[in-house]
Amino acid sequence: MAKDKIFIFDTTLRDGEQVPGCKLNTIEKIELALQLEELGVDIIEAGFPVSSPGDFTSVNEISKVIKNATVCGLTRAVQNDIEVAAEALKYARKPRIHTGIGTSDLHIKAKFNATRDEILQRAIQAVKWAKNLVDDVEFYAEDAGRTDNEYLARVIEAVIKAGATTVNIPDTTGYCLPHQYGQKIAYLVNHVPNIDKAIISCHCHNDLGLATANSISGIINGARQIECTINGLGERAGNTSLEEVAMIIKQHKDLGFYTNIESQMLNPLSRTVSDVMRMPVQPNKAIVGSNAFSHSSGIHQDGFLKDALTYEIINPEEVGADSSRIVLTARSGRSALAFRFQKLGFQFDRNDVDTLYNEFLKVADSKKEVNDEDLQQIGKSHLAQTV
Ligand code: KIV
Ligand code: ZN
Repeated sequence: MAKDKIFIFDTTLRDGEQVPGCKLNTIEKIELALQLEELGVDIIEAGFPVSSPGDFTSVNEISKVIKNATVCGLTRAVQNDIEVAAEALKYARKPRIHTGIGTSDLHIKAKFNATRDEILQRAIQAVKWAKNLVDDVEFYAEDAGRTDNEYLARVIEAVIKAGATTVNIPDTTGYCLPHQYGQKIAYLVNHVPNIDKAIISCHCHNDLGLATANSISGIINGARQIECTINGLGERAGNTSLEEVAMIIKQHKDLGFYTNIESQMLNPLSRTVSDVMRMPVQPNKAIVGSNAFSHSSGIHQDGFLKDALTYEIINPEEVGADSSRIVLTARSGRSALAFRFQKLGFQFDRNDVDTLYNEFLKVADSKKEVNDEDLQQIGKSHLAQTV
C-alpha cells in the first residue's frame, strides 16, 4: 500500500517564539530556520511580519536563505497585514501567506462583535487579497475546535473557492478530546464539497495535554498537514511537539503515513532550541527529555540488560540521543549494579555482587543517584577487604 505523506509545518519561530522569554533575534531565527530545513520540515512559519519591524526582517532574511522548504508568514484577515506579509516573503522561492479569523461564536461575538455572515465575508475577502499576491494561501479558522461544525464547513468551502490551498483547523484552546477533533476533521472531509482541492491542517494546542493525540487523530481522519514545534513550545501549555508526531508516524508504520523528518537530528535540534530560547526541556519529555532513555528500577534494568526491546520502543541512536542510561538508585537491582561495575573495569562474581549490593543500598538510601565515584569507592573498599 502506498503511504500518504504528512506535511510537517513547523511554527517554532512563530507560535513557539510567542512564549514569554523565548524571543529570538534575526540571526538566531535564520540559524534555526536553516536547521529546520535540514531536519526536513516542509513549511517553516517564519513569523508574523506586521507584528514588528524585527519580525518583518526575520521573515525577509529567512526567505532569502531557505532553498527547499516553503516559507510562511502569518497575518490577520486584514489587508495591510497581508500586503506586509507578501512584501516580507518577496525573496522566498516558495512563499505562503497564512491568513485567517476566529470562527467560534465566542470569538465572533467577544473579539469581533460581528455575525457569522460578516465573519464568513471577511474570511473570503482575506483569502482573495492573499491570493492576488501569492499562489500558496493557507486559511486558519481560529478556535475551530469550539466552532459549530456546520458553520465551519461553510467557511471552509467558501475559502477554498476563494483560493485557499491549505485549510487549518486549529484547536486554539486545546479543548477537544482526540475523538472529537478527529470527528471534526471527518465532518469536513464528508461535508465540504470542494475539500479535495485543499490540504487539511491540524494546529493543536496542549492545554489538556492532548495536542499530539489530537493531531494524530486529525490525520487518521483525513488531515495531511500537522503544525508543530520543537519541544512542543507555544502559547500557554504549548503546541503539538514535532518530535512526537515524527516518531509516532515512524514507529506506527501501520498508520500508513510518512514524513521527511531526519529523526537523528531531533535531539541535537531540541537542545539547540532549548539553549537559544533559554527554555529547559522537562526530563520526562518524550523523545528528547534527558530521562527518555534512562532506566532506574531493578525490574526494568534487568529486562533492558537482557534485551533492550523489553523496555525501549525506540533506539536512542535513531533520534540522535545519547545511548541509554542505567541509573543507579535505591530501586535498582543486582544486574544493574554488576553491569555498572563491569563498565568501570571491576571483575566481580555473583557472591561479590551480593555483598556489594548491601553496601550499595546504604549509599543509595542516602542519595538520589549513585554515581561512578561512589561505585569506585564501594568497589575499592570491597577489594581491600577481600585481599
Ligand atoms: O492557535 C491558533 O489558532 C493559531 C492560529 C493563528 C493559527 O496559532
Ligand atoms: Zn497556535
